Amino acid sequence: MSTLKTAAQFFAVRTLLRGYALIGDPYAKVITSPPNRDPYLMYEQVRAKGDMVRSRMGAYVTTSREICDSVLRDGRFLTMTFDEASMVPITLVKDGEKIVNPVQDSFLMMNPPNHTRLRKLVQPFFTPRALKDRTESIQKIVAKYLDGLDGHFDVVTEFASQVPMQVIADLLGVPDDDKPTFARWGSALAETLDGVWSHKQLKNLHDTIIEYNDFIDVLMDERRRNPQNDIVSHLLTQHADLSREDLVATTGLLLFAGFETTVNLIGNGVLKAFENPHTIAPLAQSPEYAEGFVEEVLRLDPPVQYTIRWPKERLELAGVSLPKGMPVMLMLAAANRDPRVFSDPLKFDPTRSNAREHLAFSAGIHYCIGAGLSRIEGAIALHELFKRFPNLAPDGPVSRRKSKLIRGALRLPVRANETKRSLAVKSS
Ligand code: HEM
Repeated sequence: MSTLKTAAQFFAVRTLLRGYALIGDPYAKVITSPPNRDPYLMYEQVRAKGDMVRSRMGAYVTTSREICDSVLRDGRFLTMTFDEASMVPITLVKDGEKIVNPVQDSFLMMNPPNHTRLRKLVQPFFTPRALKDRTESIQKIVAKYLDGLDGHFDVVTEFASQVPMQVIADLLGVPDDDKPTFARWGSALAETLDGVWSHKQLKNLHDTIIEYNDFIDVLMDERRRNPQNDIVSHLLTQHADLSREDLVATTGLLLFAGFETTVNLIGNGVLKAFENPHTIAPLAQSPEYAEGFVEEVLRLDPPVQYTIRWPKERLELAGVSLPKGMPVMLMLAAANRDPRVFSDPLKFDPTRSNAREHLAFSAGIHYCIGAGLSRIEGAIALHELFKRFPNLAPDGPVSRRKSKLIRGALRLPVRANETKRSLAVKSS
């Protein structure tokens, strides 16, 4: 497709979306809202219109926890590639060959039986037993990054993103030197998860995916010769018949899904602690409280805000007749505030008994495979951070990610020097 033609298409889609957003269309408003605007007010406006709100963009939007949950568990609904979501085709080619997109071509975007086949291959790395074995190494990683912090620092770039990146790199068998490159790739991919809206974004995505394909080919060659105790080696040695496309997409999905989301869980957790200072002391003192704290962050400010499903046949949903292929936007972040399920839903309460009923990790066959891992990472990271720096305080403006799908801070400056002083006073 020519640059001019794609640029014109992007312009047309953006203009259409902005126009619909201006007249209050719920789908268009979510997709076009600026990064610093609180999306939760908008979700409540949608909730006030009913459980199934029709968008003129040819979609339904729901904020109901019950409807979101039932759609996610209903085999008559499918996931689709985001070609359809952004309305612009994003098939990447290099030298006439298709380039594997680690999100679009992965099992996250597949339906059974291929989804089931591929998910099963990596499931053994996420069992409760496997996670228990990994906990000690997560504790060491957290301690290592905390040791490097002092005075003024950016808690997102210097801590919240370092921990999950190291955890997932270890799990996959990625050498340490390559981690900075992943941070860049992760951002480029995360930014386009809710669609590609400009030619510049498309080019950036294209370059990122080509670089990732080249990188993983080299890593796979190395692991074929010298297998280790990691996912890439496991897939190559135990599932040698797996196609290159499935290998590249599966490892890439784990890498990006495992890192770009957990960073925001930790960052959003720090923000929630600052907004609710009474939670900081118990968070620093008790690992059990930290687990409840993480659950409540996932409920009230989840890193993944929504997902979409498409009915594979005409069907009835909550009194609405949905034609085949009509997208339903499931507002997970709004479902987590559904007053019919969560009492006093806007209150941040780490001791809330039913917080785990949130849909931050989705539900049904695509339920997040890394939910257990990120819960452990989040709880250890937040507990140890505030234990080390009990007086941690904000130290400048927060900048947010552009994505409407992934919610979190890009930069979150903090100061910890007061802590050092107060610790020094305490110990003297
Ligand atoms: C706070 C952190 C995380 C959040 C909020 C999160 C959220 C989600 C959500 C909402 C989905 C399902 C999307 C849908 O139904 O359309 C999902 C799927 C997935 N997540 Fe996570 N995730 C997190 C961490 C992780 C980690 C640490 C890993 C891996 C190491 C991971 C790997 C995956 C994979 C592989 C899928 C696809 C599952 C499937 O399609 O069967 N995630 N995640």
